[in-house]
Amino acid sequence: MMNKELLPIQERIEKLRAEIEEARYAYHVLDKNLMDEGVLDSLKNELFQLEQTYPQFITPDSPTQRVGGKALDKFVKVIHDYPMISLYDAFSEEDMLAWEERNRSFFKKPLSDDYYVELKLDGLAISLKFEAGLLVQGATRGDGQVGEDVTANVRTITSIPLRLRCPSEDALASIGFGASDIKDLYNFINHKVIEIRGEAIITKKNLADINRRYAQEGRPLLANARNAVAGSIRQLDPQVTAERKLDFYTYDLLFPGLTRGELVRWRHQADQLARLLGFKTIQQNKLCHGLSEVFVYYRQIEKIRESLSFEVDGIVVKYDDLKLWEALGVVGKAPRYMMAYKFSAEQTTTRLLDVQWQVGRTGVLTPTAILKPVKVGGVTISRATLHNFDEIKRLSVKIGDTVIIERAGDVIPKIVGVLPKLRSGDERPIVPPKYCPFCGSIIQKVAGEVAYRCPNPDCYAVALRRLRHWASQEAAGWNGFGPKIIEQLFKNGLIKDIADFYDLTVDQLKILPGLGNKSANNLITEIHRKKTLFLDRLIYGLGIRQVGQETAATIANFLAHRLANTSRKASPEEIFAVGRAITTEEWQTLSDIGPKVAEALFNWFHDDYNYDLLRRLGRQGVTAVWEKKLASQTLSGKTFVLTGRLNSLTRAQAEARIKQAGGQVSSQVSRQTDYLVVGADPGSKLVKAKNLGIKIINEAELLALLS
Ligand code: IVH
Repeated sequence: MMNKELLPIQERIEKLRAEIEEARYAYHVLDKNLMDEGVLDSLKNELFQLEQTYPQFITPDSPTQRVGGKALDKFVKVIHDYPMISLYDAFSEEDMLAWEERNRSFFKKPLSDDYYVELKLDGLAISLKFEAGLLVQGATRGDGQVGEDVTANVRTITSIPLRLRCPSEDALASIGFGASDIKDLYNFINHKVIEIRGEAIITKKNLADINRRYAQEGRPLLANARNAVAGSIRQLDPQVTAERKLDFYTYDLLFPGLTRGELVRWRHQADQLARLLGFKTIQQNKLCHGLSEVFVYYRQIEKIRESLSFEVDGIVVKYDDLKLWEALGVVGKAPRYMMAYKFSAEQTTTRLLDVQWQVGRTGVLTPTAILKPVKVGGVTISRATLHNFDEIKRLSVKIGDTVIIERAGDVIPKIVGVLPKLRSGDERPIVPPKYCPFCGSIIQKVAGEVAYRCPNPDCYAVALRRLRHWASQEAAGWNGFGPKIIEQLFKNGLIKDIADFYDLTVDQLKILPGLGNKSANNLITEIHRKKTLFLDRLIYGLGIRQVGQETAATIANFLAHRLANTSRKASPEEIFAVGRAITTEEWQTLSDIGPKVAEALFNWFHDDYNYDLLRRLGRQGVTAVWEKKLASQTLSGKTFVLTGRLNSLTRAQAEARIKQAGGQVSSQVSRQTDYLVVGADPGSKLVKAKNLGIKIINEAELLALLS
């Protein structure tokens, strides 16, 4: 019988657990930080101490019980109640259309084309069994029929609840469950088995952190996210799994004894339910009507893929109606009712024959891999980028090595790995050149930068690159000025820098090999016709270190506001004067401009050579213009923090809009915060902001500031 005096202790323990679970749920599922890490640690510690003193109150779902027990000798086999099948892959729109067509002719009746489309996460499939709400088993897929029991390891993943949350009737009603369904659901949660399937993943950042540490410790690196997850889950010691900080996203819910669609009718509804039960679901998942919407989604995800925090290798297109899953069934190794539509990242192997060093417009040396020609993703390639010398060191690649190359979408092929076991012993190390291959200057390694650089401002290769850059479509936009013509003009001493272009005459051009009177005329006309440039193109064309097209647009926007004249045009000299007055701190208030770019900009505007160049451009009649509708920079210098869910914008959209308007977004409230934007269910940031007396605004007020 329970000792009455212990009742308050037990209550305290239960309350602590509930509080810790709320914080876990908010952090992982709602993307909200309810409490400071220190506060959470203190609660966990109190709970731990109480449980040590009163072990009779320890329960398997207590947050203190995530990492525990001893390392295993081996994994126990688990027979899956429902086989963990695989997926068929599509690589093109045609493949997807053919899949839909096959299903139509198989089904014979009219078939819905509402698809729930999900990201295809690149990790390890895991099945979790909850009995009467309690996590009792975690298993790997294995061969699909028999997997391995990895319960102790999955318990360490904090985005997996140790006990299912019991959603309120209102919450369930709001996602479409009727009264009798709700009763059935409660019955499953409280008394029966629910199987949750999903993908265990590691974020790119965590993987990079681990590999950085391993490199320091001289341990072999984890090859990629998927291997890292598999290696972390298939660990006999759960402590190791815990250190890898894995994450888990659900993609399937099973109710043993029921058929698909019986209790949960829609795949999108299953996702909503999974969240209410305490799981993370993939935020980007989307209900699409018809394959044309799916194709738009696919292209969107392919574009943002690099910026996602985890690896994604495609999308999974699923019929939203779960009753159709039952009706369409499985064929061979995989279901008819869903399809993986993969991104075209393709890898293959070839030999690295040599490395060539190119000099860019800012003097940076970039290594290019010369490869034994090989077909990858339908294209034959013989060169690949190696980015910089650090990348060569990271890959430990040598000339003569068998290398793994990858071509993802339209991205330039790159070397992603080496197979060192295939070495013959004749491989040679790659060393950056001591002297510039073009002008012979001694190459410098800039302190704090990964780059090796030719320091000679008059370097043949650097100058040539700068000239080509100015003439390119993205800058001055001249037609007819190919690299050959520019090289001839340069070699003949007719142009040294970009201002010289404007002094060229037809007579000078027409005597160049291959150029007659007519083409010389055309080229000169082209130069004079395009003396008025959009400001962002002009900035980009100047070839300032670290400034690509996007950054140039941001800078142009900022400068135009500073120039603030109604005619919306300025001479290069005026631009220089305004740019020179901007401090590195001010540059850094712009979105995407960090300390390095800010420093590069500051230095550029403080170099007299550049002043002279712009003055000469101005004298030649080069003018910058900008459009009437500039992105407003009204939020310049203001720092925002967001808390809670917004209605009309996602968190990422809100952040992007604030940055576009010149503002900054920070994750924590501090005295430097200007505005706290509060959405639905705000977190602890609200309390902190109130305490600090920070201005609190709602979504409508944010939109007003942005407009
Ligand atoms: S649905 C029929 N949804 O992809 C089994 N799988 O290539 C598929 N995966 O083993 C389950 N993201 O581990 C599904 N959103 C997603 C997924 C996903 C990743 C993995 C899963 C599966 C593999 C098949």
